[in-house]
Amino acid sequence: MLSRRIVLTSALGTAAAATLAACASGGNETSGPNPSETADNQPAVQPSTIVIGPASDVPVGGGAKFRAGDIEVFVTQPSSGEFRAFDARCTHAGCAVTDVLNGEIQCPCHGARYNFESGAVVAGPAPRALGKISIAQVGDQLEVSF
Ligand code: FES
Repeated sequence: MLSRRIVLTSALGTAAAATLAACASGGNETSGPNPSETADNQPAVQPSTIVIGPASDVPVGGGAKFRAGDIEVFVTQPSSGEFRAFDARCTHAGCAVTDVLNGEIQCPCHGARYNFESGAVVAGPAPRALGKISIAQVGDQLEVSF
């Protein structure tokens, strides 16, 4: 079984490459690489991908919370093999959402509820939908991208 691991395609590495590329051009403005691109001609900022845990931790029709670095991610599985990921912070006052009941993500603090497929507000004081996070299943693991 693949252990939990964090794969961080770091913006730091990309920024370092961009910095080196900028230094390499030193003084010769026309022949050096564009400082906004890496040596591989990639954009300077790339998304970070983090393996958050096994897909089997998310029940079909339910949800589960994971950590992605400093961020809590709430993952739902509305139907088998279809995953959605959201920033777990409730948009009302920032409490962490906790679970899914009848297709709705629940916030325990003041009763906000969100649709577990879209993250849209269903009820309660929340002013807007939960923040969506890109998610993919790779093998038996879930990966999120920022
Ligand atoms: S913090 Fe979630 S409903 Fe208030």
